[in-house]
Amino acid sequence: MNPDTESNSPDPGFGGLRVVAFESRMAAQLATMIERRGGVAIVAPAMREVPLQDNRAALDFADRLIAARCEFDVVIFMTGVGTRALFQAMETRHSRASFAAALAQVATVARGPKSIRAMRDLGVEPTIVAPEPNTWREVLSALASNLELQGKRVAIQEYGASNRELTAGLEARGARVTVVPVYRWTLPADRAPLRAGLNAIATGAADLAIFTSSNQVTNVMQFAEAEGIADTVKRGFSRMAVGSIGPVCSAQLRAYGLHVDFEPEHANLGHLVKAAAAEAPSILAARRGGTHRIEAGAAPTPRRAPASDAPRSQLRDHPMLKACRREAAPYTPIWLMRQAGRYMPEYRRVRERHGFLEMCRRPELAAEVTVTAVERLKVDAAIIFADILLPLLPMEVGLHFEKGDGPVIDRPIRDEAGVERIPAVDVAALGFVGEAIKLVHRAIGATTPLIGFAGAPFTLASYLIEGGSSRQYQATKTFMYTQPETWHRLMERLARTTADYLKMQIAAGADIVQIFDSWVGSLGPDDYRSFVLPHTASVIAAIPAGVPVIHFGTVTGNLLELMREAGGDVIGLDWRVNLADAWARLNYSVAVQGNLDPIALFAGVPEIRARARAILDQAGGRPGHIFNLGHGILPETPVDHVIALVDAVHEMSAR
Ligand code: CP3
Repeated sequence: MNPDTESNSPDPGFGGLRVVAFESRMAAQLATMIERRGGVAIVAPAMREVPLQDNRAALDFADRLIAARCEFDVVIFMTGVGTRALFQAMETRHSRASFAAALAQVATVARGPKSIRAMRDLGVEPTIVAPEPNTWREVLSALASNLELQGKRVAIQEYGASNRELTAGLEARGARVTVVPVYRWTLPADRAPLRAGLNAIATGAADLAIFTSSNQVTNVMQFAEAEGIADTVKRGFSRMAVGSIGPVCSAQLRAYGLHVDFEPEHANLGHLVKAAAAEAPSILAARRGGTHRIEAGAAPTPRRAPASDAPRSQLRDHPMLKACRREAAPYTPIWLMRQAGRYMPEYRRVRERHGFLEMCRRPELAAEVTVTAVERLKVDAAIIFADILLPLLPMEVGLHFEKGDGPVIDRPIRDEAGVERIPAVDVAALGFVGEAIKLVHRAIGATTPLIGFAGAPFTLASYLIEGGSSRQYQATKTFMYTQPETWHRLMERLARTTADYLKMQIAAGADIVQIFDSWVGSLGPDDYRSFVLPHTASVIAAIPAGVPVIHFGTVTGNLLELMREAGGDVIGLDWRVNLADAWARLNYSVAVQGNLDPIALFAGVPEIRARARAILDQAGGRPGHIFNLGHGILPETPVDHVIALVDAVHEMSAR
């Protein structure tokens, strides 16, 4: 009986649950089965078959089987599809009758009902049939109890990943094993559905996953690893119901640290979907109800749609925006952090007459220094003149800037009462930044992309808690370690304000936003994951698709993969990492920005050019590199050296 056609099945069905299915060959049929039982199918094929004519091992096997003196005593058929594929490959060279006759002379073993059917269809009656549950163990014991294996030449028709246990078991009994991999699986050519399926899992937008082969498990997890989302995907699975077609597939899931909730009574798609519909609702109720507690770091990493999905900026084809999307550009775009600052005489002239905060608060002054820097340096982007600490102004903590000392916060936040005292921030209070953006946009927006920015929650929290700049972040980390719940509440507030602040800047005309997590490199990866990642991720997820996000930090060599997990189209690199190594570590799945040491600008122009060349060489002309310093320009930097750098990058990268 086909379980899928039992129209009056007693189970209530999926009731709208979202089911991710990784099956490839039968993807459409499986989706229909899921939908017939009231589920929403998320089809995410994870495999692609390698063409038959590329199966050299199968062709060699055919030659050796049919040779005048057959070279095998035993042939094991592991799968139905594989058996058929093997025969088809052999038929490209020999008549079916000749190898059916050769197989009749040896012992043939069928692992399960599908290999039996395939063999019979091809005119071969299996000598030995392995009993249920049809794993390699049953194959081995059925063979060993029927045959003396010592000295026997055994061929195994294999599917996908090698079954080393079976080979080892046979060899331990004295057999000589030849493995005949008939088809191997690679990732599908179009990986977008798989990527979307994994994102659904990572973000909690899926309830159930069903795996229909062990190779799928391998491909899915390897792909998640390559995309840098393996950990969030695993956490996603841990909140879902997971079904497996059978014991081999389940073993592979467990080998990857994933759990298995159910296997069907019989290893076929219909029974698997039936078991899923019957069992998933109660499994999910148990898993998600009752003891469910959102732990920091256990929450899914929110995701945005890729920027390329929603064209937005009128400067869409500007090299800077192309680089954000990892598209080829005629040259490598460059801009510099703190490009409008004290190193520049024009800035100092304005600054002599106005306080720093006053400059930020007066849109015409902020716009003027922003535009002057772009025109003087001929960089490829403007960054709005402002400061990451401005959102602390409406928090009424007594922020001011002391000459020489940098920012000072008179009433730092040290405990729960302090967090509770912070008033809810309406970013309209920071409307002057939006006004400045509009002025810049009006002046140069038709030709130059404008970067809006904000501090990431961790870096903002460090100022709020320390009361100013810090070396060790002792108060910040002590707060985090001793008052984790209060920490998370503070970070949530900062994340919400930051997201609103950035959205306001985008509404005013920012084409790109950069998130400065300048001091996050003071944390180890585990702390980053639990105390920071979910909050930065929630800021980035709030940014509308189509507006690229640059995610920047310093001393983050140990955190780059996690920062990418938190989000961002572009990851900022400082000079402590080699750009080529760092980008390779990120699998080129994001653009990168950086990474000249700001102090290199104090060296002579030939040295600056040599270092710029070295960084461009590390980027290797790959689309998606934005040239920048590894951190902001220092106040004493010679302006003509900065200009020489910009010219050098434009000239050397012209394509
Ligand atoms: O890059 C730009 O040209 C845009 C303007 C900008 C400023 N601050 C102006 C500024 C940007 C992007 C920032 C970001 C910022 N501010 C960060 C993150 C970037 C980084 O450097 O990691 C941080 C940590 C701050 C906080 C801050 N503001 C500090 C520590 C200081 C004092 C140190 C210093 O460089 O003076 C500021 C003041 C500040 N912000 C100045 C400028 C031009 C100098 C103020 C002055 O003229 O006295």
